[in-house]
Amino acid sequence: MLAIAGSAQAQDCAPQAFAPCQACHALTPDAGTRPGPQLAGVVGRPVAGDPGFDYSPALRTARDRGDVWTRDRLDTFLSDPEAMYPGLWMGSPPIRDANLRSALLCVLERGR
Ligand code: HEC
Repeated sequence: MLAIAGSAQAQDCAPQAFAPCQACHALTPDAGTRPGPQLAGVVGRPVAGDPGFDYSPALRTARDRGDVWTRDRLDTFLSDPEAMYPGLWMGSPPIRDANLRSALLCVLERGR
């Protein structure tokens, strides 16, 4: 169960929140090849910042103009990935629940 009741704080990590992402993403740089880029240290990293991953033109354009994965940008992205970067190659549904995004962001920041 996700322990993220009404008074959820940004600090409430829920590793389970990352479960749907795990099929495509790893949180460690040495987890081997996956369908998506590794997300180790993604908070604060430039967009399209995994040198081992071949990104879509949508994300490469964002990187070239200097977009960085701040916490706020990740939060907006996860609420609707396709709206932020149309043409993105990520087949994952929007996460509308702000508490769930907060719990997920905590995991991304912590790295596990
Ligand atoms: C079906 C596979 C898949 C799933 C599930 C998935 N992703 Fe992705 N994700 C991708 C792919 C592929 C890309 C690269 C997209 C591109 O190049 O346009 C990506 C890109 C990203 C990026 C940008 C990374 C960077 O280096 O700029 C973030 C952040 C991200 N995903 C987070 C998540 C999170 C969090 C979840 C779970 C809620 C998730 N993804 C679920 C496939 C997936």
